[in-house]
Amino acid sequence: MSGNNPRPSGPAAVVCGLAGWLPPRVVTNDELSERLDTDDQWIRTRTGIGRRHLAGPGQATSDLAVEAGRRALESAGTGSVDTVIVTTTTPDRPCPATAPVVAARLGLAGAAAFDVGAVCTGFVYGLATAAGLIASGAARRVLLIGADTYSTIVDPLDRTNAIIFGDGAGALVLRAGGPDEPGAVGHFDLGSDGAHEDLITVAAGGSRQRSAGVTPTHAERHFAMRGREVYRHAVTRMAASARTVLDRAGWKTDDVDHFVPHQANLRILHSVADDLGLPRERCVTNLDTVGNTGAASIPLALAHAAAGHRLRPGDRLLLTAFGGGLTWGSCLLTWPGITTAPSPERITP
Ligand code: UT7
Repeated sequence: MSGNNPRPSGPAAVVCGLAGWLPPRVVTNDELSERLDTDDQWIRTRTGIGRRHLAGPGQATSDLAVEAGRRALESAGTGSVDTVIVTTTTPDRPCPATAPVVAARLGLAGAAAFDVGAVCTGFVYGLATAAGLIASGAARRVLLIGADTYSTIVDPLDRTNAIIFGDGAGALVLRAGGPDEPGAVGHFDLGSDGAHEDLITVAAGGSRQRSAGVTPTHAERHFAMRGREVYRHAVTRMAASARTVLDRAGWKTDDVDHFVPHQANLRILHSVADDLGLPRERCVTNLDTVGNTGAASIPLALAHAAAGHRLRPGDRLLLTAFGGGLTWGSCLLTWPGITTAPSPERITP
């Protein structure tokens, strides 16, 4: 976990555009309860989730990513970037990467385009990648999209996971700028522990299963999570990562105006906030309306908070994520005075 470099000396990555997009189909807890042995109260009490948006038939991750990406470019007032990064656990296909397809559909053919995979930590890893590219001079303007369609990998009859996950996409545009500008992305902490690879998996579809030459079972083709263990790791790792990045920047907990965590489970987010000594009101959450949207969850939470006028220029943000791998990561930034895209919910497709 330790050993990450401090902020590099080149240009800083400065946030200049933000947007989210949700597929129009809304599935409530009551609707899930009609086909699963669960109920609204259990789901709300255990997770904080009230409803989620799910992709429609034939809708793939790139479709959501294009919608969020287009709106983020509009929010940034630009039609051009030199790099497109898509972070996802549910790419359209194993090959090619989703980002080149998204770039071409946004009229950005010619831009560097690649995917970053770190499961639910993907957006923070993607942000670090974008910041590194900008600091090195390899990129001047980056479109970073977190997009996931978990509904394509979760077994709809698996009551534990079907209640948690929703589909969606969120995006930031980052440009080269100065480290003290509002919007500048600051210090990072990134980490992983692959010894726990089996806690969150889709066992089939990759080289491990294919080289074994065995036809995968129904369960192996779907998302599996050992919820209780993941829960414990999530609380510990997210709190530790948040502390590490605050220490690196010399920030106190009280310097944080908004804690924007990966929206895993409301109880997890509140436990982390309590552990850090952060008032729960400073924790940005949109779990109630979107559930856990994987790599999209942090940018979607930002888009909701910005649309609700909760984020003001100069506010200090702590982003912290955790996911399969295991992976975790945190990032600090100040909020810029950007044009806010409309709330992801109010957008019609
Ligand atoms: O985004 C990546 C990171 N992911 C996470 O951070 C998710 C972490 N884990 C969690 O959020 C929670 O573990 C879950 C929401 C997945 C499950 O909540 P829990 O409070 O840990 O429940 P549990 O798995 O300990 O199950 C408690 C009981 C069990 O029944 P028994 O064995 O006590 O009789 C489950 O079978 O609740 C049962 N259960 C349900 N009951 C009604 C599990 N799912 C449901 C359900 N409705 N949907």
